[in-house]
Amino acid sequence: MSPFIGRAGELAELARLREARQAQLVIVEGRRRIGKSRLVGEFARGRRFLQFAGLARAPQTTAQTQRDEFARMLASQTDLPKVSSDDWGALFQLLCREVSRGAVIVLLDEISPCPSAIDSGRTRRAFPLTRN
Ligand SMILES: Nc1ncnc2c1ncn2[C@@H]1O[C@H](COP(=O)(O)OP(=O)(O)OP(=O)(O)O)[C@@H](O)[C@H]1O
Ligand SMILES: [Mg+2]
Repeated sequence: MSPFIGRAGELAELARLREARQAQLVIVEGRRRIGKSRLVGEFARGRRFLQFAGLARAPQTTAQTQRDEFARMLASQTDLPKVSSDDWGALFQLLCREVSRGAVIVLLDEISPCPSAIDSGRTRRAFPLTRN
């Protein structure tokens, strides 16, 4: 992988949020290939890190294949067995158990935008990423 360049301001902002020692939701947004995933990966280096990536939109992608992929990724990064569930709530409960074991960075990558959540002000903050 190429050496990581720049983004000192963004890394400092993430570090500042982490110091709050309470759960933080950060949305990293920006155009394709701008460096969203890499930024989070770099920040998470040496820290407990659970990453999940949604499946690409395709005719065979359904809510259930997304849930199965989430369960697969959860099992591959924890001691949990792979489960099958048709309930996102049950799957997130499993993630909650992992999160409650101590500080962890959770990345939900490649998820479709949810403008209603962003616009409603319910989210902690948006993190627009522009060119380095
Ligand atoms: N700060 C950086 N220094 C060096 N290389 C970088 C940096 N940021 C991103 N890259 C490289 O640029 C490429 C694209 O980065 P990345 O996959 O993080 O973008 P992205 O915004 O997540 O893209 P997508 O919208 O497709 O998910 C990768 O090869 C990554 O390693
Ligand atoms: Mg990405």
